[in-house]
Amino acid sequence: MAMDRLPSPLASLVLLISAAIPLAAASPSLTDDSRCGCFLTNGTEDSFFSKHSFFDFRNLAQYAGVPAVIPNSADSASASSTSDYFKSTAWTDWWMVGSWNNSLNNRGDSTVLMINSPNNIYIEANNDKVPASQTFLTLRTQRLEEFQTAAEIESVSPGFQFLSMRMLARTIGAKGAITAMFTYRGADKLADVQEADLEVLTRDPRNLVHYTNQPSYTVGGDTIEKATENATMPDGLDWTNWAVHRFDWTPTMSTWFVNGKVVANISFQTPRDSSKVIFNAWSDGGQWSGNMSTFDAAYLQIQWFDIVYNSTETKSSRKRNNDVDEQADFGPHGVLAKRAGEASTCKTVCSIDETSKQGQPVMLWNNAAARSRVSLSGGLAAWIPSVVVLATFALSTRLLWY
Ligand SMILES: *[C@@H]1O[C@H](CO)[C@@H](O)[C@H](O)[C@H]1NC(C)=O
Ligand SMILES: *[C@@H]1O[C@H](CO)[C@@H](O)[C@H](O)[C@H]1NC(C)=O
Ligand SMILES: *[C@@H]1O[C@H](CO)[C@@H](O)[C@H](O)[C@H]1NC(C)=O
Ligand SMILES: *[C@@H]1O[C@H](CO)[C@@H](O)[C@H](O)[C@H]1NC(C)=O
Ligand SMILES: *[C@@H]1O[C@H](CO)[C@@H](O)[C@H](O)[C@H]1NC(C)=O
Ligand SMILES: *[C@@H]1O[C@H](CO)[C@@H](O)[C@H](O)[C@H]1NC(C)=O
Repeated sequence: MAMDRLPSPLASLVLLISAAIPLAAASPSLTDDSRCGCFLTNGTEDSFFSKHSFFDFRNLAQYAGVPAVIPNSADSASASSTSDYFKSTAWTDWWMVGSWNNSLNNRGDSTVLMINSPNNIYIEANNDKVPASQTFLTLRTQRLEEFQTAAEIESVSPGFQFLSMRMLARTIGAKGAITAMFTYRGADKLADVQEADLEVLTRDPRNLVHYTNQPSYTVGGDTIEKATENATMPDGLDWTNWAVHRFDWTPTMSTWFVNGKVVANISFQTPRDSSKVIFNAWSDGGQWSGNMSTFDAAYLQIQWFDIVYNSTETKSSRKRNNDVDEQADFGPHGVLAKRAGEASTCKTVCSIDETSKQGQPVMLWNNAAARSRVSLSGGLAAWIPSVVVLATFALSTRLLWY
């Protein structure tokens, strides 16, 4: 133990305090969603959001297992979920698993029958050489003899209207597939679709990612250049590496980040109305995805998904403790704005960026009037008693050892 090398009890006290002070000054304290009136994101455009959800797929060993591919088209869509995880309300309250196919109206320029199957969505053991997690979520797509089996999950709610979402993810596998994280609002006419995409094309160079405010083409087949950016991942990363992919949707712009760095922003055709959140892994033999070779497969793998958002849904079942009294809960979209003019009436402002624990927010400030940063005042004050307790403990332990 390091204790043996300490010259005196006093020195250990000094060491403990000096170790604790920078920590207290630098990091706001961890809290939980129920104490947060809203969430402030960092980035090119700081934004406030009223809700937060976090899905952690890193420690789900009890559900892990790679299901064999179902080779029969008739059995694919109706396949049952691959583990009880996908039957839990934590999952089903938020997500729907796709089972549609492109045989009828969704053909576009596809040349291959594609069927989404619940069987392609599963928790997998992380067998990396140096695994960063026990498990992750996998979305699988594979070319079979008669069809392409694919995977899609979409939010139950169609009511997302502005958000900042992040996934720690990678794409691996063969050419001819697409993996994606996006927002989507369907429409009868192509020109009316609202959609903001992050897409990895597995036939591309491995450091290239496509970002688009759809539609990026017209019914006549012309491309709309302003709608899309091909970006290079930063720091020599490629999409087979685990990286945090982030998408911020604000009223004025779509912005995408990799590991905290902006890689693309598009203000043209930014989605306006409430949308769904969707992930998928697919291929249909069309021009965009290309073809996969028979029995080739590709995978979108996700360790966690973290999202702050505003919602147009009116269910106010998740009222927050602190702000409810003042009726400052954001509730239905716009209520707070109408009442007070802007977001600052949210008194308890949290962050999912500055946290030390992924998925758990920290309190940035508590009480909008004073706007005193909790990290500097309350944080330090809270630390002093624990430093004293720790030091006392260290001293007594040390005394006992001697
Ligand atoms: C947001 O804050 C986190 C934590 O301080 C940092 O890692 C990240 O790079 C920041 N992102 C942006 C876009 O500023
Ligand atoms: C494709 O979807 C249609 C409409 O839901 C359904 O009738 C058909 O059976 C599906 N085909 C396959 C092979 O799953
Ligand atoms: C972006 O990538 C796509 C597919 O890889 C390619 O067809 C298109 O020409 C590229 N666009 C630009 C502007 O480089
Ligand atoms: C958008 O990205 C470009 C670089 O691609 C950058 O110059 C610009 O400042 C960004 N705009 C905003 C508002 O972040
Ligand atoms: C995919 O393969 C089919 C034949 O199976 C072919 O008709 C089609 O043109 C191919 N698509 C592309 C983008 O090469
Ligand atoms: C989210 O909703 C709150 C309350 O209506 C509003 O103040 C805030 O600006 C909204 N965020 C965005 C990015 O529009």
